[in-house]
Amino acid sequence: MADTKKLFIRTYGCQMNVYDSERMAEALGAEGYEEVASPEEADMILLNTCHIREKAAEKVYSELGRYKDLKAAKPDLKIGVAGCVAQAEGEEIIARQPMVDLVVGPQTYHRLPDMVAKAARGEKVVDTDFPAEDKFEELKARPQARRGPTAFLTVQEGCDKFCAFCVVPYTRGAEVSRPADRILREARELVEKGVGEITLLGQNVNAYHGNGEGGVWSLARLIRALAEIDGLERIRFTTSHPNDMSDDLIAAHGEIDKLMPYLHLPVQSGSDRILKRMNRQHTAEEYLRLIERIRAARPDILISGDFIVGFPEETAADFEATMDLIRAVNYGQAFSFKYSPRPGTPAAERTQVDPGEASERLQRLQALINDQAAAIMQDMVGREVGVLFEKPGRMPGQMVGKSDYLHAVHVSAEGIAPGDLRRVRITGAGPNSLSGALA
Ligand code: 5AD
Ligand code: SF4
Repeated sequence: MADTKKLFIRTYGCQMNVYDSERMAEALGAEGYEEVASPEEADMILLNTCHIREKAAEKVYSELGRYKDLKAAKPDLKIGVAGCVAQAEGEEIIARQPMVDLVVGPQTYHRLPDMVAKAARGEKVVDTDFPAEDKFEELKARPQARRGPTAFLTVQEGCDKFCAFCVVPYTRGAEVSRPADRILREARELVEKGVGEITLLGQNVNAYHGNGEGGVWSLARLIRALAEIDGLERIRFTTSHPNDMSDDLIAAHGEIDKLMPYLHLPVQSGSDRILKRMNRQHTAEEYLRLIERIRAARPDILISGDFIVGFPEETAADFEATMDLIRAVNYGQAFSFKYSPRPGTPAAERTQVDPGEASERLQRLQALINDQAAAIMQDMVGREVGVLFEKPGRMPGQMVGKSDYLHAVHVSAEGIAPGDLRRVRITGAGPNSLSGALA
């Protein structure tokens, strides 16, 4: 076998990128690469990038700037850019930063071993195809060692919805669902390696419609089949569009114990005028009715969301409508962003909101969400919840895990190991985590 080479991967953006980085590390692992924790040690640096907002994309170039000295000191060092910036900018990346050797999009990283071999011979390699073959089938098996008791599993990729702000349909391509049997096989392999919780990933995961036994399977059908795997204790999925929240998926939340009571369901805005301009294809009222139906199926479900403030032409009244919607829903968690114009998307051409005004709105929105999230955490005190333990905490004898509702929970007790799922009585709520005792 060839000498071991050292690979450093830095991951930006969403959970799907985290999953992709693991798969890339495996693909290169089969070629003799071993992951290291710092770029200084590496023979190959791979940045797995995000293009969703301008700041995310610019981080890539500033990070590359920092590698100049490393490359000067070690001319054999190879630098690759993967992910959504790679897809969006392709050869431009090498034009702007010539020390980059390799550019690989999210749909072609199964070709990395070949690309790396070419780069080793001194060629510059760019591959941002949308190939016909299934990259997941081309990749080598998943590794023996797992990083913990939780895992991501991509079941669907891409998006056909074309929200006016979003680059995803361009960077990840059209909506594609993986066949159910391959997902079930991958889930079983993960469980055999000690995984107790799987988060199903997709840019539009609740639109899942993969081929399965007897025809096309919905996400609910897939979750029902996954729930039958012994040793798989918890199932989650992210991220969803309100219009794909089908009746069977709503019902699943009330019927399948392994499906966790946490739902990330972005609405982006509470103003019908802005929702229309965003091309979201639903109204604020429809979203609120949907939340009611979900809560009727699973009353304790924690709702999480995404918001964009300062979308082009958003007025003070539009923003207040968003604040009203947030008050009506009561979020346990939310991610909120200032609108960032993305090249090639329809909204980028429109009249932009004053950035100072947008920052103020963002602050007010985040303060409201923080209050809601804190009150929901406070309400957990005195309740008994399931906690899947992940790792030791900072204090001696302490372990940290995630509750059913995805809150971090600290427990000091003997005999808890990573991967254990235990009942815990919550005794305290801090700003970022809960504390409790074994029930
Ligand atoms: N500007 C700001 N936020 C954005 N998002 C997506 N595109 C943009 C953009 N151009 C946010 C949305 C989405 C989340 C993943 O990122 O809220 O749900
Ligand atoms: Fe970022 Fe979207 Fe790509 Fe994920 S899919 S890395 S959020 S641009």
